[in-house]
Amino acid sequence: MTLTETAPEMPPWRLLLGYVRPHRRALFGGALLALATGATGLLLPLVARGLIDDLSQDRPIGRALLGMAALVVTNAAVGALGSYVLRRTAESVVLGARRTLSSYLLRLRIPAVDRSEPGDLMARITSDTTLLREVTTDSLVGLGTGGLTLVATVALMGLVDPVLLGVTLGVVLCAGTVLALIVPRINRASRRAQDAVGAMGASLERTLGALRTVKASGAEDREERTVHAAAEESWRQSVRAARWSAAAGNTAGLAMQIAFITVLAVGGARVATGAIPVGTLVAFLLYVFYLMSPIQQVVGAVTQYQSGTAALARIQEALRLPAEPAAPPAPLPAPGAPPAALAFEDVRFRYADDLPYVHQGVTFAVPARGLTAFVGPSGAGKTTVFSLIERFYEPEAGVISVDGLALDAWELPRLRSAIGYVEQDAPVLSGSLRDNLLLGNPEADEGELARVLRTTRLDGLVGRLPNGLDTLVGHRGTKLSGGERQRVAIARALLRRPRLLLLDEATSQLDAVNEAALRDTVADVARTTTVLVVAHRLSTVTSADRIVVMDAGRVRAVGTHRELVEADPLYAELAATQFLAAAG
Ligand SMILES: Nc1ncnc2c1ncn2[C@@H]1O[C@H](COP(=O)(O)OP(=O)(O)O)[C@@H](O)[C@H]1O
Ligand SMILES: [Mg+2]
Repeated sequence: MTLTETAPEMPPWRLLLGYVRPHRRALFGGALLALATGATGLLLPLVARGLIDDLSQDRPIGRALLGMAALVVTNAAVGALGSYVLRRTAESVVLGARRTLSSYLLRLRIPAVDRSEPGDLMARITSDTTLLREVTTDSLVGLGTGGLTLVATVALMGLVDPVLLGVTLGVVLCAGTVLALIVPRINRASRRAQDAVGAMGASLERTLGALRTVKASGAEDREERTVHAAAEESWRQSVRAARWSAAAGNTAGLAMQIAFITVLAVGGARVATGAIPVGTLVAFLLYVFYLMSPIQQVVGAVTQYQSGTAALARIQEALRLPAEPAAPPAPLPAPGAPPAALAFEDVRFRYADDLPYVHQGVTFAVPARGLTAFVGPSGAGKTTVFSLIERFYEPEAGVISVDGLALDAWELPRLRSAIGYVEQDAPVLSGSLRDNLLLGNPEADEGELARVLRTTRLDGLVGRLPNGLDTLVGHRGTKLSGGERQRVAIARALLRRPRLLLLDEATSQLDAVNEAALRDTVADVARTTTVLVVAHRLSTVTSADRIVVMDAGRVRAVGTHRELVEADPLYAELAATQFLAAAG
């Protein structure tokens, strides 16, 4: 997938802190509890020593026993609370990322959606965000507590013997260099593994979204191979990341062993020359031993951070896609709101810089009220006219205006709330029939709903269904026929009481009886609303107040059926062949 990167990149740790910041108190509390757990653990040997002293001196041991029991219980309780607080914080960070990302993706501009794979975007919300879970808590807390312990231990080592500390740090530095080489590889492999998960989501979505066609084409095996290839790539890269993580962990372990041996050798020599007493060497060796666990902790935190930031990079990449500004929804037009006038002035548009112009100077004007039909060969740019009115895309040159006001002067939600749009393929969303109808106007009352059902001739269908309006229509409305889907889409648009109604081949799949009925409905609506239809049937076109003939990205002619049959050869030909055939 190609995602454009526009904003400058922030370093990953700053991004991560951005996600953690709202939860910093909880995280700090969790870290404190983790430290307290460690501290109560350290107290236990002291109390145990007291117990043994009491026993050896025949003193009652009740108090010491009670103290130990209290300590053990406190340790367990504080430990459990600490780990609960940290996990809860981690889940909150994931939730925050999911919220941010899903809100953002819903506002993506259509060109960005055109360029993306929905399956991959979905993987970013579902899979990548989960990787933030470990990195925020384990990694940050590990770095914090491990780092603190490390500094304290090193300081104590310096107090005991600076020379031996120098030896230890030398070894640790060598290991650090090796780690610096390994760590970026973990990041790279994690990134590729997550990209492969995204690719798998994309190819799954492609296959499951068109499973009937895949089956009918006998393409299951080939589709299976694509999905498996992505799954295997993710496996390969995750295994590679695991290998480098293991290498990092073992490098740290090995470094500590080497440090132990070196300190033993150098320290032994120093003891032999009388530079330090044996006690110092023993104490120092104990510290080297103590150093082991915080170092492992810090290395673990750093490796985990790598896979976390790889996921974070994918999340940020999605957050850099161009989106529409967040704006509160606008109210729908009040009943009886005046119809909208529309004009295109020399509009030039192409879908991308490397694609040919789809509109090469489109000009037409539609007064408020009445029915305007758009006709022209397939690919002429009719659907694109509607996409531009909805501001799914921005024209490169020229002006589009609604009510005399240029589109970019309109507040986007307000513009769209004035429009009812039935797309060419009349999409229906999974859910109930009612959900689908009320999608554009959740406030519509039962009376309005019943009226629109009648005018779109859906009342018969609703009556036949066992659950009526609450019947589930299946993914993309697969449980409805093509004609039923179109009528649902029209009903949905009508329920918004639009000032401007756009119907893109909205009746192409209806039978003659339903089509005639809907034609009457549309004619009726056109008395109070501006209606634009892309039509293929002569019957729709002849009844239009005006017809806009489009060809190859230009408006060829505008007029009534009668005028155009005389004046425009293309229209005359379309009328004589395509329309008649389709209407027959
Ligand atoms: N999202 C898109 N990205 C790139 N090209 C597109 C896109 N949508 C349509 N096109 C191209 O734009 C041209 C006009 O399409 P369209 O407006 O749908 O034509 P019509 O509705 O008149 O049949 C076609 O050549 C089509 O291939
Ligand atoms: Mg079209």
